[in-house]
Amino acid sequence: MDTKNKIALVTGANKGIGFEIAQKLGAAGCTVIVGARSEKLGEEACAKLKASGVEAIYLNLDLLKPETIEKAATAVEEKYGRLDILVNNAGIVERGDGSPINTSVDAVETTLRTNFIGPLRVTQAMAPLLKKSAEGSVVNVSSALGSCEFNGDRNSPYADAKFLGYSASKAALNMMTVQLAYELRDTNIKVNSVCPGYCATDINDNKGLLSAEEGAREPARLALLDKTGPTGEYRNTEGTIPW
Ligand SMILES: NC(=O)c1ccc[n+]([C@@H]2O[C@H](COP(=O)([O-])OP(=O)(O)OC[C@H]3O[C@@H](n4cnc5c(N)ncnc54)[C@H](OP(=O)(O)O)[C@@H]3O)[C@@H](O)[C@H]2O)c1
Repeated sequence: MDTKNKIALVTGANKGIGFEIAQKLGAAGCTVIVGARSEKLGEEACAKLKASGVEAIYLNLDLLKPETIEKAATAVEEKYGRLDILVNNAGIVERGDGSPINTSVDAVETTLRTNFIGPLRVTQAMAPLLKKSAEGSVVNVSSALGSCEFNGDRNSPYADAKFLGYSASKAALNMMTVQLAYELRDTNIKVNSVCPGYCATDINDNKGLLSAEEGAREPARLALLDKTGPTGEYRNTEGTIPW
């Protein structure tokens, strides 16, 4: 299927890595649906995308408000009748999250609801539309911090980064990748997790080492996979990484 005809939904596309993924998918010729919880920010991002020649529309989508997810699915159904690409990008790091003994349990709960339950709801709502695609792709924007193996390795560069809620939410998202890839094994839909790398965005007070544009490269590449692409993998720009 020509990428020029694909319909792509990116959650949290109003800024950061999500905006850059939307830009790349648009540059590849996809029609981009900007999912964002703020109408103002979503419309502004949409206007920027359109100014650079991308076909884009805004849909209100708040991961913590199931009704917005249902409405978004209905809108995609009515406007396009299918969805080819779903990028579950939106996510948070909650203030108060930390190591198991010290973390705020409320922060863990909010993070799990946002970074795992939210994408699960979006994926379930969009699944019937994805199944209508001739060549679908679900990309779950995870993090190396969700890797149990990296978390257990005392020599890992991430050894001291213990944010239980965030890491658990991304590990759970990875489990969705593995199980969904299995569930869709006989379809044309690929399902993969990706770590964008440590990017300077609002989520880390712009402390990351890469740009959001650099972080968007691998998620966008996976979103544009054709029928022969891999599924059920956890990747960064260098290849697969351990679960
Ligand atoms: N930056 C990194 O170093 C890094 C590393 C690994 C993984 N990631 C992952 O990359 C993804 C994008 O993060 P980013 O770095 O681009 O951060 P960001 O600039 O803070 O963007 C996060 C996006 O998620 C949206 N969002 C948060 N809560 C939401 C909700 N309840 N409903 C809908 N949208 C919501 C935000 O919307 P608002 O503008 O309305 O808040 C924003 O669009 C996240 O999943 C993050 O975990 C980032």
